[in-house]
Amino acid sequence: MASLAAKATRTTVFRKSFLPFRQPSSRSLTTRATSYTLNTGAKIPALGFGTFQDPDSQEETVSRALQKGMRLIDTARVYNIEEEVGRAIKKSGVPREDIFLGTKLWCTDYHPDDVERALDDSLRDLDTPYVDLLLMHYPCTFKRGSDRFPRDADGGMVRGETTYIDTWKAMEKLTKTGKVKAIGVSNFSMGEIESLINESYTVPAVHQMESHPYLQQKGFNEWLQTKGIHVIQFSPLGNMNDFYRQTGWSKEIAHMMRIIDQPILKKIGQKYGKSAVQVVLAWGINSGRSVIPKSVIDWQIEENLEADFELQPEDMAQIATLDAKARFNDPSLDYGWRLYSDLEGIDGTVRGKTH
Ligand SMILES: NC(=O)c1ccc[n+]([C@@H]2O[C@H](COP(=O)([O-])OP(=O)(O)OC[C@H]3O[C@@H](n4cnc5c(N)ncnc54)[C@H](OP(=O)(O)O)[C@@H]3O)[C@@H](O)[C@H]2O)c1
Repeated sequence: MASLAAKATRTTVFRKSFLPFRQPSSRSLTTRATSYTLNTGAKIPALGFGTFQDPDSQEETVSRALQKGMRLIDTARVYNIEEEVGRAIKKSGVPREDIFLGTKLWCTDYHPDDVERALDDSLRDLDTPYVDLLLMHYPCTFKRGSDRFPRDADGGMVRGETTYIDTWKAMEKLTKTGKVKAIGVSNFSMGEIESLINESYTVPAVHQMESHPYLQQKGFNEWLQTKGIHVIQFSPLGNMNDFYRQTGWSKEIAHMMRIIDQPILKKIGQKYGKSAVQVVLAWGINSGRSVIPKSVIDWQIEENLEADFELQPEDMAQIATLDAKARFNDPSLDYGWRLYSDLEGIDGTVRGKTH
């Protein structure tokens, strides 16, 4: 584990050599298979696969996505899906060492005495001896125990007694066990990441955060880059996920035009023979980040797999104009923790239960 920040470097190969199971298509020569180097020296693919929601379909879907060429799988303890993901990996026939597998520690397992046990639970369910990446899901700690959302009589979330810094130090120790190749965080503010760096030996390898053309976070992304922290964009398609329209803390802004319908993106797509969704994903990759779209529909997964292509600077500039500073994932009031406090897109946070 590197204690000094190293700048992520990009590696590009043609997708054909990356896709042993994929039939060659007429578009494959224009599609790349970019990967980046983390501050640990490990490689991470630019294009990945999210597994939040649709638990009944995930075993089949993740397995097929791997066979089609996805090599980065993102999951989390709280998604209750690790067993399905583990079976999917086995079923796919893709060698474990060819897959970059990441999971996340949940907020009720943040006490230092719980961290290794929680990882062991994940490894058991994923049926693997190690994960490539372990993330702290949010900076807030909840009361220890099996209740994932421990609430008091008034419905407020009950806080844990330790801090994310205690958790981070326990995660650091895990990197010496061989059970975790890299550690990182998710949904942290700049100040929270800075305090981790100041108070530990390990710069996070990754920050997984909401990022898409409606929430570009230019300054924060630049800052993360200077620290050598690779960004994985979650919800890379912005408000495409209905969850953001339906969840109790959904903001009015979640009902803005879906990215797939954005005329600017459609127009740019026409230039390259790509869809608006592919342009959105390519924007993230051309910005030096990984993207983890989730889909359970075969043709959409295939479309997403063909989203790693070069965008011209004038098109990147056009996409920059879409930055609405619209953050859709903001459970601050439900979790009892002001998330993203020094970041963009926190106006209008709504109170409401997530789960
Ligand atoms: N760290 C965190 O706190 C956090 C938070 C949120 C998400 N995540 C991770 O990020 C992943 C992705 O985020 P997300 O699911 O919120 O958002 P997303 O991937 O941006 O959007 C998912 C939605 O887009 C649709 N979609 C996918 N590909 C499409 C295509 N080619 N054409 C049209 N529609 C398409 C999906 O449809 P179908 O489902 O119908 O196929 C689904 O409704 C999650 O699965 C999870 O792994 C992490």
